[in-house]
Amino acid sequence: MTAGLAWGLGALPVAGVASLITASNAVPGVLPPSAVVVAGVAVARVLLVGAITATLGLNVLPLLFSPREQAVTTPARLRAYRAGGWTALCWMVCAIASVYLQTADLAGTSSITAGELGTYVSRFGSGQSLAGQVVVAAVAIAAAASGARSGTMLAARILVLCSVAGLLLLVAAGHAGEASEQWHDMATVSLELHVFAAALWTGGLGAIVMLLAADRALLSRALPRYSPLATGCLAVVGVSGLLNAAVALSAKPGTSLLSELLTTDYGRLVILKAGCLCALACIGGHIRFRLLPAIRQAHRTSVALWGCFELGIMGVAFGLAAVLGRSAA
Ligand code: HEM
Repeated sequence: MTAGLAWGLGALPVAGVASLITASNAVPGVLPPSAVVVAGVAVARVLLVGAITATLGLNVLPLLFSPREQAVTTPARLRAYRAGGWTALCWMVCAIASVYLQTADLAGTSSITAGELGTYVSRFGSGQSLAGQVVVAAVAIAAAASGARSGTMLAARILVLCSVAGLLLLVAAGHAGEASEQWHDMATVSLELHVFAAALWTGGLGAIVMLLAADRALLSRALPRYSPLATGCLAVVGVSGLLNAAVALSAKPGTSLLSELLTTDYGRLVILKAGCLCALACIGGHIRFRLLPAIRQAHRTSVALWGCFELGIMGVAFGLAAVLGRSAA
């Protein structure tokens, strides 16, 4: 609960405000959508990505323990399944809300008909991707419900697969699909790696704070295994994010990458995201080098507080990303 709150406090205001600031460039001849719709699209998007991320993290956590340790982790796993059912439900609701909001965004009015919704889903890649999200989220809800009853590890694996499918569907409708032919494949793979590493890193930390922070024995086993994973994710997120930003910012012929970085909304959002990454590296370093030695010996530490602080900054990066995906590079 606290983990989700910390992430939401970073993500939701940033997504709402940044979407309104970057929406000021109206396209001539096209009916502009209302501020509520503009902010709603970004907020629903970031909640959708956040819900998939939480579902992934909650179900990756049990996989960090060996089969011999499963008996000790069963209570945490059952709580993870119950929480995973709610995050998957939120994922489905956000996907349905996004269909409505994105159709309204395109139509320039919030009073839209069922026919317009159907046209959006059948004609637009982003509509089909959202319809796919609803189906995958439904499978995830069923898997979480069955896991909460049976407690088996199979449900965790199915939920991880569903989350990966949800993340792939997200990327399918992002800017990478618009990159020049020369860079299209590389940009798509790089964005998939970026989003997957960001979700694993954030979701894993959220699950640790939510399920294990109060249990020093389990925390002392889980955090040393999560820590190298988090370092790897940080490196992948940084390299792939910079690569995607460079491809998007150099797509316009006759402009320099530096001027696009400094003068466009897309470029400024990228700079802010790079700032978030630096802050996350500092906090991650503090947890790894200062707190982890004490956690290994099951001592009391302020890891939950630092974890929430890190989740808040991750939330800011997610909020900026939700707007980045819709800004003109
Ligand atoms: C050097 C730092 C970073 C750079 C340059 C960067 C850049 C990017 C770019 C270019 C995209 C694609 C947007 C599009 O479709 O055009 C993106 C998406 C994304 N980034 Fe980052 N990023 C960085 C750090 C982070 C961090 C620290 C996180 C979270 C921990 C993060 C999470 C995400 C997510 C979740 C998406 C997908 C958003 C969506 O599709 O709704 N990024 N990022």
